[in-house]
Amino acid sequence: MRHGFVIRKAVLIVRRLDEAERFYTAILNRPPEPVQGGLLYRLEGGSELLLRQNPRARRPLPGAAGLYHIAFTVDKPGALPAVVEKLRSLGSPLLGASDHCFTLAVYTLDPEGNGVEVYWDKDEPCERLVTKPLDPRALTMGGSHLGYRTSIGHIHLKVAGLEEAEVFYTKILGMSVTERGYPGALFFAYGDYHHHVAANIWETRWGARGSRPQGPVVGLESYTLRPPNGEADPGIYEDPAGVQVIIV
Ligand SMILES: [Fe+2]
Repeated sequence: MRHGFVIRKAVLIVRRLDEAERFYTAILNRPPEPVQGGLLYRLEGGSELLLRQNPRARRPLPGAAGLYHIAFTVDKPGALPAVVEKLRSLGSPLLGASDHCFTLAVYTLDPEGNGVEVYWDKDEPCERLVTKPLDPRALTMGGSHLGYRTSIGHIHLKVAGLEEAEVFYTKILGMSVTERGYPGALFFAYGDYHHHVAANIWETRWGARGSRPQGPVVGLESYTLRPPNGEADPGIYEDPAGVQVIIV
């Protein structure tokens, strides 16, 4: 199942551009282009990641709404062992490695503390999203490929409430709920992809429920979606995590 390059762009605010560049250049397997105020990664299918530097940006408050993780696809399963090796050499944590039936995924943090997932979309069909520990043998399937390509496959957000998220992503952005049996989370997509956006209340359920500090915050500033069949009106919206969504 392919994601159709629905997520055209994501903008991350980072405080230390040099550290972020080292991380994303390794994981995304390509160098960035310098642009005004930051660095731009041009990924497979024309999707883009912009790192925007703001040394005064504040860390998100614990329990605040915002980015849970940004998820990049790789075009072959053999890229995952290469990614794991890169995380090791970067000194980045391997937070998890899962078989979700639809995907094989590894999880880490970037140097700013943003959640990052790297995953491969399996070719075979799947009934529903599950989470099982990834069989280490799956990571060596097909060897280790350094020549992989990446794109942005989905964005996972921390929100204050799932009801509000469902209304926003289905009624306003025109996505479908693809999974509602996963405790504390909902998954949304255009077409038949497993999800382009996920929203959870795993951390916002307690703590500073949904609050965001004033001013620029490290993390996801905006993301741009292109609904494949005009499911939403072009414009600028604010999602239930307080992040700007641009529909093109
Ligand atoms: Fe994810």
